[in-house]
Amino acid sequence: MKISGTGSVLPSKVVTNDMLSQFLDTSDEWITTRTGVKSRHVISDERLEDMAIEAARKALEDAGLRAEELDFIICSNVVNEYVTPQLSCIIQGGIGASCPCIDINCACAGFIHALEMAESFYKAGRVKNVLVVCAEEPTRMTDWNDRRTCVLFGDGAGAAVLTPGDNIKSIKLSASSSTDKLWQYRLLHPTPYVTKEEVDVPLQMKGQDVFKFAVKAASKDITRTLKETGLQADDVDHYLLHQANIRIINAIQDYLEQPAEKFPTNIEDHGNSSSSCCPILLDECSRNGLLKRGDIIAMSAFGAGFVSGAVLFEW
Ligand code: UT7
Repeated sequence: MKISGTGSVLPSKVVTNDMLSQFLDTSDEWITTRTGVKSRHVISDERLEDMAIEAARKALEDAGLRAEELDFIICSNVVNEYVTPQLSCIIQGGIGASCPCIDINCACAGFIHALEMAESFYKAGRVKNVLVVCAEEPTRMTDWNDRRTCVLFGDGAGAAVLTPGDNIKSIKLSASSSTDKLWQYRLLHPTPYVTKEEVDVPLQMKGQDVFKFAVKAASKDITRTLKETGLQADDVDHYLLHQANIRIINAIQDYLEQPAEKFPTNIEDHGNSSSSCCPILLDECSRNGLLKRGDIIAMSAFGAGFVSGAVLFEW
């Protein structure tokens, strides 16, 4: 398969570090030096499903494809206002498609997991055109009194349209269960029969553990994709990495011994929008002319689970 079109949508509300320091014991200096984030787009009056539909429409337009031509839709999402129906079904109706669809929750690594699933469909000869949409609102998961988490995140939706081709050179996924490092509990409705204690806990994160996992997993995943294809790190034109922390990106860059210009970022004014990071960054790099036909791109992401993945593809 190949990526034939991309699209992305951000909420209109921009929250700067200085705005956060008005109600949190934090500062622009701390957030900028420790994370690289200066501002983020935060959902206010938008609905995530509308952003997802809009991102999908943009990707279809970019690919020159009609929604009726889609054979499958995969949506990556961690939380949204609906428990059911699945977000992919809402997107399907919103864009006017009629194909089957499925939601996946692989946290921040959702885009790469979706590509791996789609690639299997292509290899099985089951699909011609696939839409992947990542739509995330992690700012609705954090406690906005917790300076350790809420400053990191932003919201957004990114989409990619896949069509037949042989541009995917390698995809590697990994999972290593570690459920006490990055997690959230959601309270379900009570029943007359539930006797266990249940709690509602916003996103919790052991930042340094996640940081170490992220650098290790991304470096390993990218190296595995290179090894499988026989390419060297130097052969890659662009490294599009999950935008969780600029220091994580810098550490991976050091490990690969590659120049900073190969690592475009948008963390400065987006923050971490979970699985949406990768397709939003891809869309922005595509639309601003950074990517040239034939360029080799390495993409990598990691997140709660822990899960991670990398994909090596030709643009
Ligand atoms: O998508 C995947 C999900 N997440 C990630 O990839 C995140 C991975 N981890 C990280 O990016 C970093 O660990 C953080 C940015 C979360 C934290 O940075 P750190 O350099 O690991 O800081 P720390 O947790 O060691 O905290 C250092 C100090 C602490 O104060 P004390 O105990 O030294 O007095 C924190 O309380 O910084 C304090 N701190 C803050 N200070 C001002 C934590 N958050 C803030 C804040 N403003 N927002």
